[in-house]
Amino acid sequence: MNNVHLVSHPLISHSLTILRDKNTGTDAFRRHTAIVSQIMIMEATKGLPVQETNIETPLANVTGFEIEQTIVFAPVLRAGISMLFSVKDFLPFAPVGFIGLERDEKTAIAREYYQKFPADVKDKLILVLDPMLATGGSLSDTIAALKKKGAQTIMAICIVAAPEGIDVLQQKHPQVAIYTAAIDDHLNDKKFIVPGLGDFGDRYFGT
Ligand code: PRP
Ligand code: URA
Repeated sequence: MNNVHLVSHPLISHSLTILRDKNTGTDAFRRHTAIVSQIMIMEATKGLPVQETNIETPLANVTGFEIEQTIVFAPVLRAGISMLFSVKDFLPFAPVGFIGLERDEKTAIAREYYQKFPADVKDKLILVLDPMLATGGSLSDTIAALKKKGAQTIMAICIVAAPEGIDVLQQKHPQVAIYTAAIDDHLNDKKFIVPGLGDFGDRYFGT
């Protein structure tokens, strides 16, 4: 699969198992979402350009490095907020654009109910955060909305992806790199990921 990065790490395997377990409660679900999200952001930003900068330590001059401040987070409401909570301190200067999408329980088609992106996304790297990539409807709508605003460089960071959703994204937005901690088996007839972890938003927010 082109442009799909399956991030593997023993800490992810451990935390993902806790996320998948139906007996895991809200507190542990939140804690392990944070761990997985933080490792995912580390991996997805591995290739970010840095600029040299000269600073003084208390003892000497030294050349350091700064990340170019051209990153925008775009969490997909509601569940994407969980990942934003967990990673925002890694890039505290990054503006945040929001899109609200909710899947219809019967059709699994996402309906947009909110959108607010920063004015200028054109020359930015947009990190779209959404833990679940199921049919791919929510992520492809998000990417389409960002492209409409002029965004050109977009990465999607997920926790669990279904092959069906990856195919949709790769057909519609082949230039978007997908980072995921797991590629599961399939979608069931209700378009839930199997084995998956259930409804991420409900489990994270305790609804
Ligand atoms: C979930 C999830 C993704 C979407 C993935 O959101 O957080 O955004 O489903 O499914 P898709 O790939 O088939 O579009 P949901 O619509 O349940 O809303 P929520 O985040 O408010 O819980
Ligand atoms: N959204 C979820 O939260 N879980 C799924 O399995 C599919 C969509």
